[in-house]
Amino acid sequence: MLNAHTSARAPFPQAHSSGPSLKVERVNVAYSEGKLALRDASLTLEHGSICGLIGLNGSGKSTLFKTIMGFLNPLSGTVTVLGRSSREAQKAGQVSYVPQSEEVDWNFPVSVWDVVLMGRYGHMNRLRIPKKQDLEIARDSLERVGMTAFKDRQIGELSGGQRKRAFLARALAQQGQVMLLDEPFGGVDATTEEVIIRLLTELKNAGHTVLISTHDLDSVRSFCDTVALIAGRTVLEYGPTEQVFTPDNLMRVFGGAASHAAS
Ligand SMILES: Nc1ncnc2c1ncn2[C@@H]1O[C@H](COP(=O)(O)OP(=O)(O)OP(=O)(O)O)[C@@H](O)[C@H]1O
Ligand SMILES: [Mg+2]
Repeated sequence: MLNAHTSARAPFPQAHSSGPSLKVERVNVAYSEGKLALRDASLTLEHGSICGLIGLNGSGKSTLFKTIMGFLNPLSGTVTVLGRSSREAQKAGQVSYVPQSEEVDWNFPVSVWDVVLMGRYGHMNRLRIPKKQDLEIARDSLERVGMTAFKDRQIGELSGGQRKRAFLARALAQQGQVMLLDEPFGGVDATTEEVIIRLLTELKNAGHTVLISTHDLDSVRSFCDTVALIAGRTVLEYGPTEQVFTPDNLMRVFGGAASHAAS
């Protein structure tokens, strides 16, 4: 059962911290020749912070996540995660990623438990035999998102919000220092959103770095330390929420409809 107290458990392990956590420098990315999906995009995230990535549909948020993950190679520019390339950081199990729901093949025949255990792969040997600690962490992660009762359910047989929680549990199980979440609030109910925000805040307090894209502008001010506005295929503004999340800036990104969210 998921309720506002679900995450009131032992604190997350403290993350190591020195230097910037994530640095994206002047990145250009294209899916096809001659058409940039991201242009000259830069962003720096510090340890122990939550950054909200905000922009219209098609503005390049998922492209930025995939570039940070190393799924897309930039034409130019660099991505540094914990002082390493994104590939090296991932090899070391330091980057957890919750993809946008549309990116996942929900027909893939795996259970919720399988998905969460995948979060531990980076910690297992080549044969991927989970140790006691892996099982304990996977169980704890499921519990934190209130999905224990759905452990044996195929992922295709979950509701939208349950799918998000299953993938969030996988990311928690991974225990990476950097967590990337691409629209975790899409289609989730208010209680689930509250629980996710609480979990992210706990991670931040344990020194982790969180980058989260969201269309829920009303909640940004309450939990994001910094905000990155993405428009015109680039990061238009980036910085402390109170400086960047302003009616004027939102007007630049969204037009009049959303500027009330900052007031
Ligand atoms: N696989 C792809 N091949 C070609 N173009 C793509 C591909 N994926 C995305 N694009 C294009 O790149 C641009 C940025 O897309 P992206 O998915 O990063 O946007 P987004 O900000 O995540 O949008 P949304 O809010 O809808 O998730 C869009 O113009 C999109 O059409
Ligand atoms: Mg997207």
